[in-house]
Amino acid sequence: MPKKINILSLHRKKAKNSPISMVTAYDYSSSLLVSRAEIDMILVGDSLGMVMLGLDGTVPVTMDEMLHHCRAVARGAGQAPQTPFLVGDMPFLSYQVSIPEAIRNAGRFLKESGMDAVKLEGGQEMADTIRAITNAGIPVMGHLGLTPQSVSKLGGYRVQGKTATAAHQLYQDALALQQAGCFSLVFEAVPAPIATAISQRLDIFTIGIGAGAGCDGQVLVYHDLLGFLPDHHQARFVKQYAQIGAQIEAALTTFRQEVDDEQFPAEEHTYPMDQDELNDFLAQIDA
Ligand code: KIV
Repeated sequence: MPKKINILSLHRKKAKNSPISMVTAYDYSSSLLVSRAEIDMILVGDSLGMVMLGLDGTVPVTMDEMLHHCRAVARGAGQAPQTPFLVGDMPFLSYQVSIPEAIRNAGRFLKESGMDAVKLEGGQEMADTIRAITNAGIPVMGHLGLTPQSVSKLGGYRVQGKTATAAHQLYQDALALQQAGCFSLVFEAVPAPIATAISQRLDIFTIGIGAGAGCDGQVLVYHDLLGFLPDHHQARFVKQYAQIGAQIEAALTTFRQEVDDEQFPAEEHTYPMDQDELNDFLAQIDA
């Protein structure tokens, strides 16, 4: 029976000051590998719009696209000895239009795609929606700081909370989300001392991306962490633990060369056949 990471085990980690790891995954194989690495949480981020679908940002991503990828991730996670806690990102306009629609869409992540929780972006203005979704029995993770679905309003992908006033607003938002029932918050692109100070004053755990070591845990995007897309602009906060993209490209180039040079497939990659049967067959088709 695989071990399952749940909300209680995550809260226990915060209580013990033990950092929580989270990585995004978008399909069966990435989810299986993240799970085998014993990462605590998987986020099926709407960043899939960029790294899987080649879009400019997260705004065009749809509910159907999210659920499709979430189902594959749930299948991968279920194959590993330890199953991470699975969070599905609610796409733009799936939770902002009305509270009943937000509840229905959040519910689909659990009911139709095997997620344990949902994540949504926004501060105090989302508190009533978060309360309603959690009251329906669906755990909600908040997302503050740089919220990519509002990149147009924010004027670009830039650090948030850099002035005392902006940092205070972040603190008020974090308190409002905690009060509304969020089990955790992501802080994205926030100065480290601000994320640390707020994390220390919250009961729920915080996960940082570009928010320093004082958060209760850390998240990175799978493709960034692994160096999948060599020519993509990398934010300052990304650490590449591998250059997988360059390795994949080299392997594909070698395959193409071996096909061109008729070196692949070799004898050991083909199925042999009894010579008499083969002669029989050739005689039949040439008759
Ligand atoms: O969509 C995503 O991958 C995210 C992370 C950057 C936190 O929201």
